[in-house]
Amino acid sequence: MVRSVQHEMLPVPTADETARQQFIVAFKQTLNRELRSTQGKLFDAVVAPRYQASHGHVPGTREEIRASMQADPAYRAWSTLTRAAQEQMWVAVGDSVFRERERLAATARRLSSAPTRRGSLHLDPDFVPPRGVTAVDIHLQTGGYAMDLGGGDCSAGALYECGGNLYAFGQGLGRNDSKAAHVQRFIAQKFPDLKPKRILDMGCSAGSASVPYALAFPDAEVHAIDVGSGMLRYAHARAESLGAAVHFHQMDCAQTKFEDASFDLIVSHNMMHEISGVTRRGMLRESRRLLRPGGLCVHQDVPLRFKGLSEFRKFDMSWDTLHNNEPFWEVYANGDLQPELLAAGFESDCVHVGSLEATTGSLPWFVACGWRKP
Ligand SMILES: C[S@@+](CC[C@H](N)C(=O)[O-])C[C@H]1O[C@@H](n2cnc3c(N)ncnc32)[C@H](O)[C@@H]1O
Repeated sequence: MVRSVQHEMLPVPTADETARQQFIVAFKQTLNRELRSTQGKLFDAVVAPRYQASHGHVPGTREEIRASMQADPAYRAWSTLTRAAQEQMWVAVGDSVFRERERLAATARRLSSAPTRRGSLHLDPDFVPPRGVTAVDIHLQTGGYAMDLGGGDCSAGALYECGGNLYAFGQGLGRNDSKAAHVQRFIAQKFPDLKPKRILDMGCSAGSASVPYALAFPDAEVHAIDVGSGMLRYAHARAESLGAAVHFHQMDCAQTKFEDASFDLIVSHNMMHEISGVTRRGMLRESRRLLRPGGLCVHQDVPLRFKGLSEFRKFDMSWDTLHNNEPFWEVYANGDLQPELLAAGFESDCVHVGSLEATTGSLPWFVACGWRKP
């Protein structure tokens, strides 16, 4: 399923909003693709020699590298503009989302209660979203993942989908870069006999990965969980608009309410880098508990591993922790998922941790998988 697929829950930007959003994409592409890649050269040619002249040694630790780079006006300009572009992105999509807030809530109510609906929505009025998503607005998304403005509000989901698309295009990812499609190809190649009857998508956000599973496995019952009610209302209505049967639940991935051994396939997409180490280990244990014999879990995420990276690269990659409200970015990058899968109860010959080979134009996504013998 292509990115920016059309459905009834998408806000329709005005001409002015479209122009602004297009500007944000071009601005981000310049910052990410053209300017970010010049920083290694800036460090080697200018910043490190200047630091050496005043300190007697080249900056070696991440702290020294950060201090020396932040003293450089070209780096400071890039960093400031990159933060500003991210803030502007949320303002730009927020203009459309908040202008259409009432229409989105009404459309969600109609789609979610339509007699023809195929999936379902299960919000838990007693659920308290974990501090990991409420303490900060992750990657600066306005109001955060758990935002719910009342009255059937769906803004968090609309912001996530629209902002996510601008973010991806700004990174240079194309319309066909689908994480779910990559994982589905991986499953077909490595586990050709898997014919899942029940599938669970953890940390589903707007459901843009959940829907492709429902479409790819039409005989399976597909469930998806997240912590935010506004996010889940949007995800359910979006799935209904796309004709996909997905059952959405407000649950924590480390402590769901599903029965033991009740799923054949459990997936997550880009969630691991946004949860704490404690939650991640709980999520892996929960995956093991929920899998039936013969079942498989595939947790996909960005290919960000700190092991083996140079200190400069670690400094570069930790920009998001410091400036883009990604508190768990380095927790994820430093995580050793192989022992965590074993500690979660998977046998040593039933785990796979590594990259998911790139196909056309995409990032080489990373996966942590565990499976149960039949
Ligand atoms: C980057 S988004 C995931 C994107 C989504 N899977 C997709 O493919 O578009 C991370 C999601 O994880 C959710 N999340 C964070 N902590 C969670 C938890 N403890 N349990 C379930 N979901 C969680 C957030 O609310 C957010 O929607």
